[in-house]
Amino acid sequence: GLSSTKDLLLNAEKGGYAIGAFNVYNLEGVEAVVAAAEEQHSPAILQIHPGSLKQGGIPLIACCISAAEQATVPITVHFDHGTSKQDLLEALELGFDSLMVDGSHLSFTENVSYTKFISSLAHMKGILVEAELGRLSGTEDDLTVEDYEAKLTDANQAQEFIDETGIDALAVCIGNVHGKYPASGPKLRLDLLKDLHALTSKKGVFLVLHGASGLSKELIKGCIELGVRKFNVNTEVRKAYMDSLSGPNKDLVHVMAAAKEAMKAVVAEKMHLFGSAGKA
Ligand code: 13P
Ligand code: ZN
Ligand code: NA
Repeated sequence: GLSSTKDLLLNAEKGGYAIGAFNVYNLEGVEAVVAAAEEQHSPAILQIHPGSLKQGGIPLIACCISAAEQATVPITVHFDHGTSKQDLLEALELGFDSLMVDGSHLSFTENVSYTKFISSLAHMKGILVEAELGRLSGTEDDLTVEDYEAKLTDANQAQEFIDETGIDALAVCIGNVHGKYPASGPKLRLDLLKDLHALTSKKGVFLVLHGASGLSKELIKGCIELGVRKFNVNTEVRKAYMDSLSGPNKDLVHVMAAAKEAMKAVVAEKMHLFGSAGKA
């Protein structure tokens, strides 16, 4: 059924596992995540990015909520990467149970005031707030090492950020990236994650890791051991969808079913890696 993100994360904390938050764009995507969750007896988060919301609008949110309500396992609906005040103010009215305030493009001081503003409004409505400190890059960004280091989450700033904003969950930048990792593979600063966890666990704040597509089983395990409770997954599910379209059968209904199956397989695999399979 339709659950609360806070409950999912609290249970994950107690059980020492993580919840997958999967970006969805259409009915096949929503059905793929919910079917995977039911088959794997796993809780899950359906998340909608502003770009996806622009395409799917309110019917897409309604689809997520309705699918969650009918599911035999706990599902919640989350708004991903709210980079503008306008998007977030809208999102507050649309029925999301949790949202991400993404002020990572702002200076630290601006990020604090932006996050604090939305966080106070969201909390009045009982909506869980995730926010990002540091800045996640894509591999196409072509950053120098110095730039890259500068974008990692700073542990001292994290303390102040949490105290000032009152957020419930912190998305950290420890070398994780959206999309593909370089051919040499992901390099995560687990030492930094450990420091950040020491801080967030004292404050009852959940750790979130974006850019989970492309992370090895070992890295995911390491992150969970160091407190990550929510992994965001997008690229691998999208790729499964697109790859499925190259099959020989071009009948619409067949293509839709094949896309759903392809996405479902990726989602199910992640649920096992995250340890959420069998927890619902
Ligand atoms: P990936 O596309 O790397 O899985 O990242 C997803 C994400 O962080 C969505 O917010
Ligand atoms: Zn992200
Ligand atoms: Na990634």
